[in-house]
Amino acid sequence: MAFNFFINLSYLIGAVAFVWGLRLLSSPDSARRGNLLAGFGMAVAIIATMLLPMARVANNYAWIIGGMLVGGLIGFITAKRVKMTAMPQMVSIFNGLGGACAVVLAIAELNNNYTGMSEMSTGGIGIALFTLFIGGVAFTGSLLAFAKLEGLVWDSTVTLPYHNIINIILLLVTVACGIYTFVNGSLTLSIVFMVLSLLYGYSFVAPIGGADMPVVISLLNSFTGLSAAAAGLIYNNNIMLVGGILVGASGTILTVLMCEAMNRSLLNVLIGGFGGSSTSAKGTDGDQVAKEVTLNDAAIQLFYSQSVMIVPGYGLAVAQAQKVCKEMDDLLEANGVDVKYAIHPVAGRMPGHMNVLLAEADVPYPKLLDLEDANSALKNTDIVVIVGANDVVNPAAEDDPGSPIYGMPVLKVWDAKNIIVLKRSMRPGYAGIQNPLFFHEKNKMLFGDAKDSLGKLVGEIKSL
Ligand code: TAP
Repeated sequence: MAFNFFINLSYLIGAVAFVWGLRLLSSPDSARRGNLLAGFGMAVAIIATMLLPMARVANNYAWIIGGMLVGGLIGFITAKRVKMTAMPQMVSIFNGLGGACAVVLAIAELNNNYTGMSEMSTGGIGIALFTLFIGGVAFTGSLLAFAKLEGLVWDSTVTLPYHNIINIILLLVTVACGIYTFVNGSLTLSIVFMVLSLLYGYSFVAPIGGADMPVVISLLNSFTGLSAAAAGLIYNNNIMLVGGILVGASGTILTVLMCEAMNRSLLNVLIGGFGGSSTSAKGTDGDQVAKEVTLNDAAIQLFYSQSVMIVPGYGLAVAQAQKVCKEMDDLLEANGVDVKYAIHPVAGRMPGHMNVLLAEADVPYPKLLDLEDANSALKNTDIVVIVGANDVVNPAAEDDPGSPIYGMPVLKVWDAKNIIVLKRSMRPGYAGIQNPLFFHEKNKMLFGDAKDSLGKLVGEIKSL
């Protein structure tokens, strides 16, 4: 009795720590504490589970602790070494391993059931098959997402003609096999169902464009959460259920938020077809010519302005220009210039990408303005410096109904008095479309790698 109370209390502490940890993750100031708190909750949950009578009878402690040490070490080293730009890949591979765990748990329990080692209820078998399916899809889907983001495979090499139709057929076959396995249950059928689920996960992700991967990873993450929650039902383990539901729900919310911020439906992301064909690297578009600015002119304008708004984008991450950007910010502030940062919710390639990069460079959080606040402040801004951003400042989203990004909320940088864009060429960004902003009368281009250009600007400002 007292033991049960202790276990349930531990699970309650674990669950509260997860929820509170998630809450703290919503602000960069408290995110580190949130992560630690959720980790603490997980430690409490694992220790309590290891003390359960079921675990004591099985007496597999050497395997469990050995596995935790090896897995923990690999996780620790990888997380320490990973570059910020490779974060989506890491999330993807860790997520895939979560799906693989769910598959292994489900097939082990089905094996025990069909070989007579234990007996599962009909509901239990249904849940195990569900876990097998969702976990399998999350596993191979995440592995392929990882390989695509890492540049190990190209979209064209894994996509077949009419791939979306093949996917629908494969899904129907897999679901039919799942139902048949449920009705006529056998281990062989369960294994066939597992193989089909793994195949579907791979095929589901194959036709999705590489740059859409963050949305897909978030979706697969929610699948893994669901499979963990289902595994919690198999073992009648409340903390596994709660943890799984939290992962599933937060993954789903994140997926929806990302789609909304890009003004695209999830279906549109999943069946692809995003982006235009403009890949011009020239500084002209018909009669229009993009004006350029010299380093010296840009430095003088910035140094003698009153307010500067920096708009970071994916190019800042690629160039790893955050620290030199902060150096320029410090120099301007020292001269009395008010410097702020406009953060678009989907700038970069993962949620909070810009916040994390700027926090790494010690940019104070109050300097970061969200989309709405930035758009109000832009009207009174002297110069906007766009560092490797493109789609998030594209006016076509406001005034070109034919544009694929029409309706996406963007930063209205053209409201400021002057605009300077730092990028290497006229090439488009993620959406693959030309940006009329580059030809705007207020705009001037400063071509070059963002870190290099900012470094030179810092040098010029210092010499003023
Ligand atoms: P993008 O529109 O992708 O544009 C980035 C620009 O950075 C490119 O035009 C590129 O031009 C420039 N660039 C690349 N490397 C550079 C370097 N070393 N130095 C200077 N510039 C460099 O980026 P954005 O404005 O941040 O928009 C993000 C896009 O990603 C949106 O379309 C969004 O919907 C999408 N997306 C975001 C997410 C999340 S969650 N953030 C997830 C999926 C998709 P050059 O090649 O000419 O240099």
